[in-house]
Amino acid sequence: MASSSSTTGDRRHYCCFFLAVFLLSSAAHGQLSATFYAARCSSLDQNVRDEVSRALFRDPPPLGGRRMGASLLRLFFHDCFVQGCDASVLLDVDPSKGILSSEKDAGPNANSLRGFEVVDSIKSKVEAACPGVVSCADILALATREAVVALNGTTWPLLLGRRDSRTANQSQANSDLPSPGSNLDTLIAAFARKGFTAPELVALSGAHTIGLAHCVNVDQSQMQRCRVPTADGLMAELDDHTPERFDSGYYDKLGKRGLLGSDRVLTSRRDLDALVQKYAASQAAFFADFGSAMKKMSEVGVLTGADGEVRTNCRRVN
Ligand code: HEM
Ligand SMILES: *[C@@H]1O[C@H](CO)[C@@H](O)[C@H](O)[C@H]1NC(C)=O
Ligand SMILES: *[C@@H]1O[C@H](CO)[C@@H](O)[C@H](O)[C@H]1NC(C)=O
Repeated sequence: MASSSSTTGDRRHYCCFFLAVFLLSSAAHGQLSATFYAARCSSLDQNVRDEVSRALFRDPPPLGGRRMGASLLRLFFHDCFVQGCDASVLLDVDPSKGILSSEKDAGPNANSLRGFEVVDSIKSKVEAACPGVVSCADILALATREAVVALNGTTWPLLLGRRDSRTANQSQANSDLPSPGSNLDTLIAAFARKGFTAPELVALSGAHTIGLAHCVNVDQSQMQRCRVPTADGLMAELDDHTPERFDSGYYDKLGKRGLLGSDRVLTSRRDLDALVQKYAASQAAFFADFGSAMKKMSEVGVLTGADGEVRTNCRRVN
């Protein structure tokens, strides 16, 4: 008798415990959901995929047009690290709406972030199909994932229902986006501020398997790689083996071949160097950890429910 009633009591405790965990975790995720647009914009995934593949493979060489995939990935990262994934990075200066300075003009972004017109073209297509329904923040999250898939990289699940901010914060872009000359402790702290662990910093840095950097950001020891002609002057490939392909080539001899100081320092702590070597040896391990970290990044500081708005034009507050 006594033992059976204590079992029932335990069950009740378990039940309350799981209910509490469920409520807490759904509160933490706001109202993001896997099927957010299923009823109201069933063409969304297809429209994003079509526009991303039209935009990729269209740039002139180098990287045979594929650089735009890298640029979208970086644009999303720079959105999420400033006020959360709320499309604040897309806003132009507009004093009439209280946008006195933009994130795109912040130090780490000015003359360097790309992909704004690709987001605009996806948004136009989605607006034509489902007017006023899909946020710019969700479009950027979806486009980024499609771009990585199109580069033969990996994929990850996304929850949708992000809302767009009515504000931008240039000073936060200047303070919170990591810089290429930072030491390891500074990088770890910058990622910790957004909820990421040091191993997640290592996995996310694998994004530098694609794309280019301006010479001013390149580590002194790698200056000879600054010889790729672009419309923007000479640049350098972040991954000097396969800069157009999303693979685990970035991690191969990272301590010596890393283009940015922030890439090279990742091998300076023993446990992180072990992870670098694991990813260099196993693309599957890199893809799995990169995908989980990207899903987590896509949920940083999101606006949901009645917060924010669904912008009509991604560059302007409604
Ligand atoms: C660990 C801290 C990081 C630092 C210090 C850093 C810094 C930089 C810098 C300086 C550039 C070159 C920009 C230019 O010269 O125009 C760059 C490019 C890039 N970054 Fe990072 N980054 C970091 C992490 C990340 C993360 C987490 C992602 C995405 C998940 C990312 C994605 C990219 C991509 C794809 C490019 C190439 C963009 C293009 O070709 O247009 N980076 N990064
Ligand atoms: C992706 O793989 C396909 C099929 O193997 C290939 O044709 C294409 O060139 C690859 N794309 C990239 C960006 O590597
Ligand atoms: C902008 O970001 C800074 C640094 O994170 C913060 O101190 C400030 O309160 C933010 N400003 C607004 C208007 O949110």
